[in-house]
Amino acid sequence: MSVATRENDLSHIVEADRAHIWHHLIQHRPFETVDPRIMVEGKGMRVWDANGKEHLDAVSGGVWTVNVGYGRERIANAVRDQLLQMPYFAGSAGSIPGARFAERLIEKMPGLSRVYYCNSGSEANEKAFKMVRQIAHKRYGGKKHKILYRERDYHGTTIACLSAGGQPERNAQYGPYVPGFVEVPHCLGYRAQVETVSYGEWAADQIEEVILREGPDTVGALCLEPVTAGGGVIPPPEGYWSRVQEICRKYDVLLHIDEVVCGVGRTGEWFGYQNYGIEPDFVTMAKGVASGYAAIACLVTTEEVFAMFKDDADDPMNYFRDISTFGGCTAGPAAAMENMAIIEEEGLLENTTARGAQLIDNLLALQEKHRVIGDVRGKGLFCGAELVADRQTKEPADEKRVQAVVGDCMAQGVVIGATNRSLPGFNNTLCFSPALISSADDIDEITSAVDKALTKVFS
Ligand SMILES: Cc1ncc(COP(=O)(O)O)c(C=O)c1O
Repeated sequence: MSVATRENDLSHIVEADRAHIWHHLIQHRPFETVDPRIMVEGKGMRVWDANGKEHLDAVSGGVWTVNVGYGRERIANAVRDQLLQMPYFAGSAGSIPGARFAERLIEKMPGLSRVYYCNSGSEANEKAFKMVRQIAHKRYGGKKHKILYRERDYHGTTIACLSAGGQPERNAQYGPYVPGFVEVPHCLGYRAQVETVSYGEWAADQIEEVILREGPDTVGALCLEPVTAGGGVIPPPEGYWSRVQEICRKYDVLLHIDEVVCGVGRTGEWFGYQNYGIEPDFVTMAKGVASGYAAIACLVTTEEVFAMFKDDADDPMNYFRDISTFGGCTAGPAAAMENMAIIEEEGLLENTTARGAQLIDNLLALQEKHRVIGDVRGKGLFCGAELVADRQTKEPADEKRVQAVVGDCMAQGVVIGATNRSLPGFNNTLCFSPALISSADDIDEITSAVDKALTKVFS
């Protein structure tokens, strides 16, 4: 921690925050008696709060974002230099970092060729939804406009994204929703809807059932997370993705993969979909693209999709009539270039795979010891441990006790997460997404804190 942080009295900041800040996704009544948490400084895997307390961050900035860790001078320098040279111009024009990063990104995404910049995961998903709707109008008289989404998946916070959201607690009270979004069943093997040896195929077949029920000529796209994040950290079951791809091709349904969490290294591949041999039509990404050093999101698509928006230059309605003001900020791609270079130069994809395997092994060892851990799952440094009151019935653990585990880890100086206001009664999965730079000792420190917390809360 810097001398500035140690020596500065931040009590005024805490009071200004308490008086004026509306924090995200949190009930504020407790702040009448306890201080709101304010994070002041970060270095590597560690963050310090306003009281000077040090924490090991096992959730990359709370929401799986700071993939390359804190305090990266080369990102800060690149952003500074770029801001002085050319901070902003509307996205109807190009920029040097925009073109350079797009070129680098496309090298990592065979089959895709076009990058549309904007500034949040929700916004990137909205862009894809709008493209699907416009394609429906261009090609199918507006009919093939429905967008399928999956139970437990999350695609963002806007009303359209909530309409594509499979988490009832995030959605409730924000309706009426946007029409034309239709849910397909989840694919969480631990809570399989049926008993079958080929659950992956079964879960994918449910998507086909929905397409047939709705009418294939009305379904334009299927939007899925490669590994569901906030809905419980759900890697796909064996056989799921190849069948999903087959179904999309059969019914001419565009496949939109939401990589907002998985994208840029989190699962040990550049993109989550690349673990499963998927060939998407749209890929959206945000959080890890610049590790939170600048706001940037991208929608990436194929030349085939792109071509549909320029095939009649005489028609004033032919192109994508959309803009994102801050999609023209150059800090995003400047930071993203450095972020990508760091991942390559430091071998962070390989580290993610190795440390991810260690994290899973450690969690499995905890499962042997603590009956409250019903299931352990994950891919790379993107893992979850689902807590249950009873292993036989799989009754979810009480949410207050799940939160008590998170709270106890925090008191020990380790920040972990838990599914939060997702599905009623199912906010019971502990979430782990440490930065891709995690060391073996960091992973052991995380699981050792969880071990102590589980012992304390559940014995
Ligand atoms: C899978 C997924 N998609 C989209 C979003 C929305 O991203 P943003 O908060 O940047 O709008 C999130 C946010 O957590 C997410 O987890």
